[in-house]
Amino acid sequence: MIAIAIDGPAGAGKSTIARLTAKKLGYLYVDTGALYRTVGYAAWQRGIDPADPDRVAAMLPEITVDLRFDQDGVQQTLLNGENVSAEIRSPEMSRYASQVSAHKAVRDYLLWLQRKLAKEHNVIMDGRDIGTTVLPDANLKIYLTATPEDRARRRFDEYLSKGVSVDYDKLLNDIKQRDYDDSHREISPLRRAEDAKLVDTSGNTLEESLELMEAMIRRHLGI
Ligand code: DC
Repeated sequence: MIAIAIDGPAGAGKSTIARLTAKKLGYLYVDTGALYRTVGYAAWQRGIDPADPDRVAAMLPEITVDLRFDQDGVQQTLLNGENVSAEIRSPEMSRYASQVSAHKAVRDYLLWLQRKLAKEHNVIMDGRDIGTTVLPDANLKIYLTATPEDRARRRFDEYLSKGVSVDYDKLLNDIKQRDYDDSHREISPLRRAEDAKLVDTSGNTLEESLELMEAMIRRHLGI
């Protein structure tokens, strides 16, 4: 099986680029952020403080988190069998996800599922610690980033296109806060694996980033 790990901060374009590239190559695209969002959503539903490691850990045996892929390879995220793919996309769930993702129990709980998928399929998996922790032997590791302003602008446009109204400055602050939290947590922090190729998408159009990515993958894997 072939595994391509794409890590990087929120809003660098990882998910869009990974999804479209996976489709082109016939690989499965796995969005691991959705798993953390789902655990965050479960905490939110129960009124659990996402920053409380003990209460979040105690909740885990009560829930099942699973991914399904429809015929087009589009990922659906299930919480206790219920499709929560839409619910987990709000700015509030971004914060909840970031907070629950700092707990060891949560990371351990989600690890096997991510590894199982990579064992069974050719994958492009995106997240924060795929190249460093989840798939350290991935065939290719990419660290995708862009300036915080560029990323906030993209998230802003994304929310706008879904009819969700958000404030740009607030998004920018949230992104900077999440960058800080994700890269300063003790366990599996966001960082570039030593053998990951750095791709900075600042100022690129989506098409430019896609071309760059596909060329890099094809060159590296010889496909
Ligand atoms: O990629 P995203 O924005 O949907 O991720 C939501 C949060 O989940 C992010 O702030 C950090 C966490 N996360 C993580 O810790 N490890 C991953 N592999 C993916 C996401």
